[in-house]
Amino acid sequence: MPMINDQLLIQKYDRPGPRYTSYPAHPHWKQSPSQSEWLEQVLLRKELGANFDLYVHIPFCSSLCIYCGCSRVITKDMELASRYVDSLIKEWNLYQEKCGPISLSSIHLGGGTPTFLEPSLLSKLITSIKGNKDISWGAVEVDPRVTTKEHCDVLIRNGFQKFSLGIQDFDPVVQKNINRKQPYEMVEDMVSYLRDNGVESINFDIIYGLPGQSVETIKSTFEKVEKLKPDTIAFYSYAHVPWKIKSQKALEKIGLPKAEEKRDLYEEGKRYLEKLGYAELGMDHFSLKDDQLYHAYEKGELKRSFMGYTSKKGECLIGLGCSSISSSGLGYVQNEKDVTAYMNTVNSGNLPLIYGHTMSQQDKMIDQTIQDLMCQGKTDLERVLNSLDDNHVNNIRNTYNEMMSDGLLNLEKSNLEILEKGKPFVRNICMALDPNLKIKSENQFSRTI
Ligand SMILES: C[S@@+](CC[C@H](N)C(=O)[O-])C[C@H]1O[C@@H](n2cnc3c(N)ncnc32)[C@H](O)[C@@H]1O
Ligand code: SF4
Repeated sequence: MPMINDQLLIQKYDRPGPRYTSYPAHPHWKQSPSQSEWLEQVLLRKELGANFDLYVHIPFCSSLCIYCGCSRVITKDMELASRYVDSLIKEWNLYQEKCGPISLSSIHLGGGTPTFLEPSLLSKLITSIKGNKDISWGAVEVDPRVTTKEHCDVLIRNGFQKFSLGIQDFDPVVQKNINRKQPYEMVEDMVSYLRDNGVESINFDIIYGLPGQSVETIKSTFEKVEKLKPDTIAFYSYAHVPWKIKSQKALEKIGLPKAEEKRDLYEEGKRYLEKLGYAELGMDHFSLKDDQLYHAYEKGELKRSFMGYTSKKGECLIGLGCSSISSSGLGYVQNEKDVTAYMNTVNSGNLPLIYGHTMSQQDKMIDQTIQDLMCQGKTDLERVLNSLDDNHVNNIRNTYNEMMSDGLLNLEKSNLEILEKGKPFVRNICMALDPNLKIKSENQFSRTI
């Protein structure tokens, strides 16, 4: 159990804040690039020889998990899925028509549920995108409840080496509370099949802070994790944002753990994982020491993007599909969120961009500093502080001095290092640098703990 001191820290620092999968955080985007400005950014990056990653969003799921904060559409309509795949292919072709051929360093399929698509449709999607080239790295999010051996075969045959399984929790009561029945044996079968077929890296997504979880249930979930030994684990803090996702309100009725209880769940999981030989990398992520995520961390090459932590990150990310976000390193754009509006725009020959952000020099510097803090746990603040006005610099110094006396970090001249005690508060440490947070209302972000 945390000491009283730690409880006070949790009370002091538990507040709404961004997860910084981008800087500026999504609600703070402004100066949206037009379609032609966006394409100019992509072309410029291409001419400079940048590496391109592709993210493809498949929003469909056949049932709703009540906690889910992802961009998803609950449906059984396979005909809709088929038309959607045609639009994805068309969107990719539009990029190639406007920018010339783009060769890809990696493809990431996410959702929603990519394996909602029938295996033949999934195969059509992947082969249309990659043409006759091999993918050097492919990652896919799979829901074990709907993923068949045929799906796995299609993905493996097409070069996908990283499979991320949505587990969330193995406890039957918690599973009932969140409307996600998924027996251990189902996951065990899938992991065996993937291992037998040479998949390089298996990830489990697990969430803490769900109704019905206790230190005991978390321990028993990790006892099952131990038997399957995934290579990496994303141990997410449940993001409760009922003002955005109305269905999450139902979980309040069952009862959500308080901030300190939630932290105990995390500490229990972390202790268990470290005992098993996993290393904690950045925020909420763990890896065995022979996985390439850990190698990237060791070499200081770990990256963070809209897809979470990754060992692979090109300079440019193109997001296909409804709600997908693209990033050129010079700016961001987001696609139309509604499936029908997305398909109509693409089918009329236009990129389905709704808004975005063009990065200033200062944005780029803050972005790099936040990447350093989130991925390496340390940074040199000199350049970023020189780019900010005196008032903001004073506020940052005051905040960091206070965090230093709270034992969260060390600041020597401009070198900042996050200490063990500060790891749970990495979002708060990044937030001190973010000038946008002073002027926006709180109800835009989940809580930091
Ligand atoms: C985009 S979902 C796709 C996974 C896949 N559909 C599945 O459920 O198996 C990726 C992960 O986001 C996480 N997630 C979804 N909603 C969340 C929330 N409100 N708070 C924290 N994590 C969440 C879950 O762990 C989930 O596995
Ligand atoms: S957690 Fe996965 S399967 Fe469940 S609703 Fe969200 S995206 Fe769909």
